[in-house]
Amino acid sequence: FKSPMKKKVLLMGASGSGKTSMRSLIFSNNPASLTSRLGATIDVEQNHVRFLGDLILNLWDCGGQDAFMDSYLSTQQSTIFQHVGVLIYVFEVESRSVVRDLEYYAECLYALKKYSPEAAVFLLVHKMDLVRAPKEAVLEKKTVELKQASGDTEITVFGTSIYDESLYKAWSSIVHTLIPNASVLTRHLTKLADACSATEVILFERTTFLVIATSSHPPSPSAPTPLELPPSSPPPASTPSTLSSFGTHTSRLSAKTDDEDPHKLNPTRYERTSELIKAFKHSCARVRDEFHALEMELADFTAVLDELTKNTYVLIVVHDPTIGKSMCIYIIRVGS
Ligand code: GTP
Repeated sequence: FKSPMKKKVLLMGASGSGKTSMRSLIFSNNPASLTSRLGATIDVEQNHVRFLGDLILNLWDCGGQDAFMDSYLSTQQSTIFQHVGVLIYVFEVESRSVVRDLEYYAECLYALKKYSPEAAVFLLVHKMDLVRAPKEAVLEKKTVELKQASGDTEITVFGTSIYDESLYKAWSSIVHTLIPNASVLTRHLTKLADACSATEVILFERTTFLVIATSSHPPSPSAPTPLELPPSSPPPASTPSTLSSFGTHTSRLSAKTDDEDPHKLNPTRYERTSELIKAFKHSCARVRDEFHALEMELADFTAVLDELTKNTYVLIVVHDPTIGKSMCIYIIRVGS
């Protein structure tokens, strides 16, 4: 019997920066529209999320009001900052107290170095949907500012918003670093892809629908750098609520983006799928139905999304016209 591995994830940042909102979207399947009703977090809210069979995320959502921050940095310092696997620090992109935000961040980083020097640090420049100026430029400027404030600590910066898939991209990347056997998973997915001539096979965690691993089979996703933003600024949360909109959206996800290169797929397809399935699951819950699986056989591709294990779903995308959805389903059954 192997006891599950626990990873402590600290979620910190100023009050109102959006920490609880992102937690409720990703881990509790709540829609973005309901986040405005969330109250301020009092002290620390701890959640245990069984992420994969043997990985438990111990999420510490640390209320960001000054009094709490001061306490984390003084009397509670060792409790908060010891045994941390990952620190996620959230900055509101249009914060009116940039200097104070950076001061608190620097102090947290100092405490983290002292108690958990090995912890990975991810910085989210959040509420990017509110930015009117070109988003890329704003994010780049912020990134430079945050790198300066981080000294020699290695950091990864993402631009995020609860109103588009950027949040899923950031959280998938973060969680990916916590999965101990990620490369083994990739190898298995590649085998699965080979077995049914799939263009791509993607593994999702069941509750959050975050991407755990993808097959490395060609086409290798032209993965955008963490700095890369979604192609355009999306309108706030018009969540798809019907299967047909899933179909349309997915065909867009998998549609060829370059006539010359049939394998050039949309670089944001993973996180868009996560976002879409979560929205679809939410719609199912609203009509008291449960989401089980999705199968699509369209003119230029077949896609099957089904349960692989107790904690995972797998999506198989095939462009080979000789491989139908029943073949994909059979392969998933054999693989699970
Ligand atoms: P504390 O609990 O006090 O530390 O605050 P918090 O960081 O948990 O903030 P919370 O999640 O409660 O969010 C504050 C407000 O920001 C809510 O009204 C959310 O709807 C809003 N919000 C969260 N994320 C976004 C986002 O990406 N864009 C926009 N426009 N608003 C957001």
